[in-house]
Amino acid sequence: MNILTFKSQEDFAETGANLIVSLLQSNPRAVLGLATGSSPVTVYARLVEMHRKGLVSFAKASSYNLDEYVGLPVDHPQSYRSFMNEHLFNHVDIDLARTHVPDGNAPDLAAECLAYDRMLEDNGPVDLQILGIGSNGHIGFNEPDASLSSGTHVVDLLEETREANARFFDKLEDVPRQAVTMGIGGILKARQIVLLVRGEEKAEAVRNALEGPITTQCPASLLQSHPNVVVLLDEGAAKWLK
Ligand code: GLP
Repeated sequence: MNILTFKSQEDFAETGANLIVSLLQSNPRAVLGLATGSSPVTVYARLVEMHRKGLVSFAKASSYNLDEYVGLPVDHPQSYRSFMNEHLFNHVDIDLARTHVPDGNAPDLAAECLAYDRMLEDNGPVDLQILGIGSNGHIGFNEPDASLSSGTHVVDLLEETREANARFFDKLEDVPRQAVTMGIGGILKARQIVLLVRGEEKAEAVRNALEGPITTQCPASLLQSHPNVVVLLDEGAAKWLK
């Protein structure tokens, strides 16, 4: 695991964006695994800037997002499809038809999960998977539990996750209770994983994930079993690391 800590948010964003740009330069058809959340936002902003300067093209790339809320209209400002359109897809030359976000409004969610895994199987593996981490150690929406699912599945969000994400909604009751998420097995199939974490409120989760035991009670700790993980942290997120 390659762990890098940054004093400046600009360097954090630049380094994250450069990993994606180098990949697209060597492999324009790369399959990107993308994440939402506040940590990747500056990386996406930097990618948009680099695209505007003609330094990177997404024209032949495809993308798969980790997760989506269940039951939130796709055009709701807090749907993960809206997030991706707003922060990245609408501002670069990616073909929207090759961007994939699980459909949290599918009439048959079990079938949607199977179809998502089949697409990943057919078009994958993901070359570079961006990840964030929840304060409780979740990745995607794989919540701490006695066991974890391998494939894409529907998950009941823990109250702590709903409360953490309530900052994006008018009120807690508006935060969906379920989500569709890629499973841990699917996430670990990526060739490379780039974990992006900003903020002191994530410091404990980061320490548990990177230095604690591998346990389903901290889903991000399973990243320790992956051979190619880069972790980008700001100083707040790195605070409790030995
Ligand atoms: C949500 C997403 C996760 C993300 C997490 C962290 O819960 N489902 O995929 O990693 O937020 O977000 P942030 O980067 O805002 O801390």
